Amino acid sequence: MAESRNEVTIVDHRSGQEQKLAIDKGAIRAVELGKLKDPQTGQGLLTYDPALLNTAACKSAITYIDGDQGILMYRGYPIEQLAEQSHFMEVAYLLLEGELPSQTQLQAWENEVTYHTMIHENVKKFMDGFLYDAHPMGILVSTTAALSTFYKDAKKIDDAPSRHLQKVRLIGKMITMAGYSYRHSMGLHYILPDNELSYAGNLLNMMYRMAEPKYTPNPVLEKALDLLFVLHADHEQNASTNVMRCVGSSRIDPFTATSAAAATLYGPLHGGANEAVLVMLKEIGTKDKIPAFLKSVVAGEGKLMGFGHRVYKNYDPRAKIIKKVAHEVFQVTGKNPLLDIALELERIALEDEYFVKRKLYPNVDFYSGLIYQAMGFPVEMFPVLFAIGRTVGWLAQWEEMLLDPEQKIARPRQIYTGAGKRDYVPLKKRG
Ligand code: ACO
Repeated sequence: MAESRNEVTIVDHRSGQEQKLAIDKGAIRAVELGKLKDPQTGQGLLTYDPALLNTAACKSAITYIDGDQGILMYRGYPIEQLAEQSHFMEVAYLLLEGELPSQTQLQAWENEVTYHTMIHENVKKFMDGFLYDAHPMGILVSTTAALSTFYKDAKKIDDAPSRHLQKVRLIGKMITMAGYSYRHSMGLHYILPDNELSYAGNLLNMMYRMAEPKYTPNPVLEKALDLLFVLHADHEQNASTNVMRCVGSSRIDPFTATSAAAATLYGPLHGGANEAVLVMLKEIGTKDKIPAFLKSVVAGEGKLMGFGHRVYKNYDPRAKIIKKVAHEVFQVTGKNPLLDIALELERIALEDEYFVKRKLYPNVDFYSGLIYQAMGFPVEMFPVLFAIGRTVGWLAQWEEMLLDPEQKIARPRQIYTGAGKRDYVPLKKRG
């Protein structure tokens, strides 16, 4: 049997050159391939990987996913344990600082975030400028970028205390901007944050408080929303996180970088799938229509939204947790009539050869929209809720990127397929 070594040998048959590449943590360094030169042009060999399907762009100690086993861990802690025993503020500390906080640290952290929920009066005026029917996610993306003009010290990204302050500011203000973006779209006056409420409770307060002198969130709904923030807090190198790192690598401030990440999340292939699930369930309408619907999916006439994942080839662990919580929420709100269709759809799909063969299971979005809808959130708020939780992950990944001595400004290469050199033709001489 061949001796096992952590290296791979590549023979370039253009030149006969042989190159040994060390394998470290299951990867080879792409730049090493550049040592294999085209004998004609001297051009080093590139890797071609559209959509970065098989490229690790960083080393990260934040989130671990095993897609085949359906495992998700933040800083080594299984998501199931965090969902069961922790809460969003503690998970935010864990993701950002690397360890669970002590009692004193947690208290100080919660106080810091709570006391940074207020926004400048001019930020309110900025939000007022949007049309009455502006999408709340569009408002959130723009207002997050606008924060960089209010906190000029955010440019000091090499200064650890300044980085900490910006993280606290952004996490604190995210719920306020989200609440105001909703109130703006409803034509309602803005509600100030209430320092006595939890993070999730405060968002509910800023969205739903009417004339009552003190808003008291329903504890079941408050806990469910907090849990949804936990489940969405980070998911390693997804599209928006990749953008956070990429934009941040130009050494811009974290508010501008977060705005770019949130813009990526806004897209229907990323943060918008839960809305698509609701549309699909409504279209199916009744349980007896499910077999015909699945038949059309198998025939390639559409997708089963909320199913399938680039990384998970097993049940998404977050979907399992959400499914359980859905029942608790529905006890308070009344059952979402679409739930029965979703459950039956899942049952039949998981027995269908098409889905079994392709390892297509429910992902996080299959049940989250049902809960959000039952809690009274309009669908336009779904990506906003996702962004609130994910802001923590974006910031943790941003700082990890900044402190990684191997990282530089992100700048991929290309394979040029355009015209060869040709001479400029003056306008008059063009046919
Ligand atoms: N319904 C039906 N068929 C599907 C589905 C689906 N939801 N997802 C994948 N497939 C099929 C594909 O057509 C393909 O079939 P083929 O081999 O016969 O061509 C096979 O399964 C492999 O799928 P890919 O498209 O290669 O998987 P990819 O990793 O590119 O896509 C994605 C992953 C985008 C999530 C896809 O599964 C999908 O579109 N799902 C529905 C949308 C959705 O739920 N998105 C939310 C993702 S989670 C999140 O972003 C928070």
